[in-house]
Amino acid sequence: MRKISIIGAGNVGSTLALLIAINELADVVMIDVLPDMPKGKALDMLQMLAVFNSDVKVIGSNNYEDISGSDIVVITAGIARKPGMSREDLLSTNANIMKEVAYNVSKFAPNSIVIVVSNPLDAMTYLAYKILKDQGWSRFQVMGMAGVLDTARFKYFISEKLNISMDNIDAMVLGSHGDTMVPIISHTNIQGIPIRNLLGEQDLNNLIERTRNGGAEIVSLLKTGSAYYAPAASTLIMIKSILHDKKQILPVSVYCQGEYGYHDIVIGLPVVLGSKGIEKIIELNLDTDEKQQLDKSAEKIKQLCQELYTLNIVGQGG
Ligand code: APR
Repeated sequence: MRKISIIGAGNVGSTLALLIAINELADVVMIDVLPDMPKGKALDMLQMLAVFNSDVKVIGSNNYEDISGSDIVVITAGIARKPGMSREDLLSTNANIMKEVAYNVSKFAPNSIVIVVSNPLDAMTYLAYKILKDQGWSRFQVMGMAGVLDTARFKYFISEKLNISMDNIDAMVLGSHGDTMVPIISHTNIQGIPIRNLLGEQDLNNLIERTRNGGAEIVSLLKTGSAYYAPAASTLIMIKSILHDKKQILPVSVYCQGEYGYHDIVIGLPVVLGSKGIEKIIELNLDTDEKQQLDKSAEKIKQLCQELYTLNIVGQGG
C-alpha cells in the first residue's frame, strides 16, 4: 500500500484523510501539533473503515517519525481565514509554521512529493520549495494546490448559471490563489462551444468575480474558518494523478524558471501531473488581455514572496 502523510489534521487535512481512506488510495498519517486530536480523528476513521470492511491504515500522531516512507506529503498546517481576512493576512503566522513543517518533512520523508495547501498558497509553496530545494527536492516535486479548486468553483458557477452538467464544462483558472486569479476564458468551452457564445460579457464578469471571491464567500458564511470540502477534494485529484501516473493536465502552482516569462515565483500554471510529480509545464496561447492579467497576478505574488525576505523568513541568498 502507498503512504500519504498530511501535516495539519484540521478541517482540510482530516477531510482529505477521509477521502483517501474511503477511496482506499493509500495508508494515511495525520500529524498535528495539538496533542491527542489527530489520534482521536484516526481512531474514528479506523472505526468508520471497519464499517466498510476496509483494511486501509490510518495513523494520527504528534510525531514526525511516523511520516517516514511517505510517497506524498500534503501540508495543510496553519491558521485559516476568519471573516474580513485576506489570505495574505495569514502570511507571517503560516510562514513560521511552514518553515518548521518543511524542515521536518525534509528530515523524515526525504523521497516524498510535496503538495502545499496552506495559505497564502503561492507564498507558502515558494517558502516550502526554498527550504526543500536545499535538501535535494526538484521544483517539480514541490507544488501548490489552488488551480484545481479555483477551476472547480468557476465550473460550478458556470453550471449553475447555464443549468448544464459539470461534465460538459472545460475550464481552467491560473495565476495566484487570490484576488488576481485568472479564469482563462479563451480556453473555457461547453462541449467545445466557446463560453462567450453562450454568455454575455456582464454575466461572464459576474461569474469571474464570484470565482475570485469564492473562498471569501464561504469564509463569511462559516464565520469560524475557511472552506474544506472542495479544497480536500481538489488535493485528492492531484494525488490520484500522481499515484496512478495519470498524467492529467491540471492547473498547479509551480516554481518558475522562465516559463511564461516568470522567474523566481510560484504561480498557478497548467502542468502534466504524473508519478514523478510535475512532468511538464504547458505553455498556452493566451489572449493579450489574459496574459496581462496573469502578469499582474505574478507581480502580486512577487511582492508577497518579497515579504518573506523582509520578514527574514527566507535568507537573502534564497
Ligand atoms: N505543525 C502541525 N500542525 C499545525 C501546526 C504545526 N506547526 N500549526 C498549526 N497546525 C494545525 C492546527 O493545529 C490545525 O489542526 O493545522 C491545522 C489547521 O487546521 P484548521 O485550523 O482546521 O484549518 P483548515 O481549514 O484545515 O486550513 C488549513 O489550509 O486552506 C488552507 O487557508 C487554509 O492555511 C489554511 C490551511
